[in-house]
Amino acid sequence: MKDAAPQTIYLSDYSPFGYLVDSVSLIFDLAPHTTRVKSRIAFRPNPDATDGTFFLHGEALTLISATIDGAPVSPDITPQGLICAVPDAPFVWESEVEIDPANNTALEGLYMSNGMYCTQCEAEGFRKITYYPDRPDVMAIFDVTINGPHPVLLSNGNPVKSAPDTAQWHDPWPKPAYLFALVAGDLVAHSDSFTTMEGRHVALNLYVRPGDEGKCDFGMRALKASMKWDEDVYGRAYDLDLFNIVAVDDFNMGAMENKGLNIFNSSVVLASPETSTDMNFERIEAIIAHEYFHNWTGNRITCRDWFQLCLKEGLTVFRDSQFTCDMRSAPVKRISDVIDLRARQFPEDQGPLAHPVRPESFQEINNFYTATVYEKGAEVIGMLRRLVGDAAYARALDLYFDRHDGDAATIEDWLQVFEDTTDRDLSQFKRWYTQAGTPHLHVSESFELDTLTLTLRQETPPSAATPAPAPLVIPIALGLIGPDGEEVLDTRVLEMTKAEQSFRFTGLDAQPIASILRGFSAPVILHHDLSDADRVHLLAHDTDPFNRWEAGRTLARKALLGIIERGTQVDAAYLNGLRAVITDERLDPAYRALMMGLPSQSDLASALHERGQTPDPAAIHYASEAMRDILASHLADDLQALYHAHQVSEPYQPDADQSGQRALSNAMLSLISRTDGAALAMRQFQGADNMTQQLAALACGIRAGQGDEMLAHFEAQWKDDRLVMDKWFGLQVHEAAPENAAAVAKKLTEHPDFNWKNPNRFRSVFGMLAMHHAGFHHASGAGYRLLADWLIRLDAVNPQTTARMCSAFQTWRRYDPDRQAIIKEQLDRILGTEGLSRDSAEMLTRIRG
Ligand code: PHE
Ligand code: ZN
Repeated sequence: MKDAAPQTIYLSDYSPFGYLVDSVSLIFDLAPHTTRVKSRIAFRPNPDATDGTFFLHGEALTLISATIDGAPVSPDITPQGLICAVPDAPFVWESEVEIDPANNTALEGLYMSNGMYCTQCEAEGFRKITYYPDRPDVMAIFDVTINGPHPVLLSNGNPVKSAPDTAQWHDPWPKPAYLFALVAGDLVAHSDSFTTMEGRHVALNLYVRPGDEGKCDFGMRALKASMKWDEDVYGRAYDLDLFNIVAVDDFNMGAMENKGLNIFNSSVVLASPETSTDMNFERIEAIIAHEYFHNWTGNRITCRDWFQLCLKEGLTVFRDSQFTCDMRSAPVKRISDVIDLRARQFPEDQGPLAHPVRPESFQEINNFYTATVYEKGAEVIGMLRRLVGDAAYARALDLYFDRHDGDAATIEDWLQVFEDTTDRDLSQFKRWYTQAGTPHLHVSESFELDTLTLTLRQETPPSAATPAPAPLVIPIALGLIGPDGEEVLDTRVLEMTKAEQSFRFTGLDAQPIASILRGFSAPVILHHDLSDADRVHLLAHDTDPFNRWEAGRTLARKALLGIIERGTQVDAAYLNGLRAVITDERLDPAYRALMMGLPSQSDLASALHERGQTPDPAAIHYASEAMRDILASHLADDLQALYHAHQVSEPYQPDADQSGQRALSNAMLSLISRTDGAALAMRQFQGADNMTQQLAALACGIRAGQGDEMLAHFEAQWKDDRLVMDKWFGLQVHEAAPENAAAVAKKLTEHPDFNWKNPNRFRSVFGMLAMHHAGFHHASGAGYRLLADWLIRLDAVNPQTTARMCSAFQTWRRYDPDRQAIIKEQLDRILGTEGLSRDSAEMLTRIRG
């Protein structure tokens, strides 16, 4: 409850529930404010448990009646649940509760979105539906009856019976309550089918609101591709006769893997060329795959407790990135993932919210759906795979599925299958799961006669979560490039286990340049003192696409920091090296587009902070703008040529090939518009038949000061499409000048379509504001104050989304005393709000320190 003292839960306190559940049957009588839920649950004492307390979770429920074996009981009820005396033998618990889905604005449990009913139970939402042992290690077979005047009534598993206004569902697979789902409403289905490798005929449906039928085709194709891929690559087939996906407009997260009934934020499933960008399509494909892959990694094998969240999330993210690598370009996907990791996970791991991939304590589990658990969790699996090799990884996974199917498992179980298949001792490797913090890897080299010696030193800064970090096992993929540009040693993996360690390479004719941490083989910060000339050499010759990109990125970062420190001089060798890469028609356009990208302003702030300096957001902004001007003038001759050479003339396809062309030509357009004004952008805007082209041109137009008319046109064209309007809101904040960002955001909150209770719309304005580095951190403090005002307002209706957005403040101690003072005032102001949620309170106290 809101006023109860926050309680901390510890991994070390785990103990199994006192009872096993043999079956669950639920009957829902739907009504917006007075939904009745009847439950009939068969329990039996758990022989493995020591504590026989019969505690059922339950929150915001009105208990109508409760019986045990048919006899009425009067349990002790608290805001968190109930305790009841029970027989020391199998018994049947029955209860009836009333809930109010129409007033459920937190979007957890059973709630309503645009007149439809839907549920979100992960992590602890089921307790808002009925009394139940709401913990992932309690698994049961569910039967569900839904009564209500709605054409579509869905739950998990297979349909048993359906008649007007009623439907019955049976899910044959035991599951924890967090995978329960129910949907009811006036929906239309886009249907297809898939036959599994085991010969099972599976009906597939994508349910959407009437009007969205035209945005289903891509998602359905992605689903079928995912089903096939999991069979081909992991040998995993689907296990029900039906797979449903539902698109919902009001959703706190991306999507949810409920058994047989995935529920998606409509922004990550609905797509059409006119309304979705290439990036949207790629993300939709990845998230559909992610949720589908959870069927094996998450549902068939689930988590013993929420501390093990990375068991399902790290592995499923790893699997979805493998899928995207296979569907699209592997190097482009890898580079994009690393950009994302550095932007979201590194700051988390280096600030007050740092926690291990497997945390050891929490107050509110919703606050641990983090980049560390997900993305670093996936990196850890990538390292494991690199260390044991692809074949051993495949054997270990087979054993994992074999041994743990039907289990609620732990990270220990996961590592054990690798130990058993490879005979390796993974106890040191396990530190990746138990230690917080981003390791630094320092390299020094010496060359004598024909021998290169690399001396590597690892160091993880201590943090509150891990005060005394110990050395990690770090797989370091490495190759050597000779002075003539030939690779003299192809990629191999060094296994670093000590704090400091040397590796020797002999038989070399001349001193090579070491290409270290190829493919970003470990989530560390590499310190390798190469000269600019050596980096330009790697930019031209590295055979590893990641490190080739990384060489360019490091040069760009140095150039930007140079502008901040010394003024606008950029090394011509770098600019020429960049030109050579982006004009090299043998290279994938998508890869060249990535080469054109600059480190973000918050990346630069991190880099300065790492060097012991206080980042000045205005100076960083100025440098980023200056750098783009330099690129625009230095590359002027090539920009037009590349822009025109990479126009797509075929009908729009959201595939890797076409989206790469558009990414490259739009990168050119953005530089062209700096020197030549908005004419070309305007032409692209007017002629665009797809959102990628239209939105890129609109951004250029706004930056060139020609935005008003284009924005008005865009709004008139798309005012009825809520997903496109999210882009319209977001782009205006994104493209605002730093001194205007807060004012632009504020003005947008006055727009009649700013439905702030819708998480997508709220994030389109305030997520963008928080990401606008120079705008959010403007010296006036207007950005900080505005965000705080709105977090206070949102917390009262939706704690989960509010708490996640509090992380906007996580880097606050990097900045100067004036900014810190304003931020601290805001943190205290939010923390002082009467009735602040446990979610936000936990986040803000951790951030404030
Ligand atoms: N389990 C979901 C996923 O990773 C994420 C999620 C968590 C969604 C909590 C809703 C609530 O795919
Ligand atoms: Zn997931």
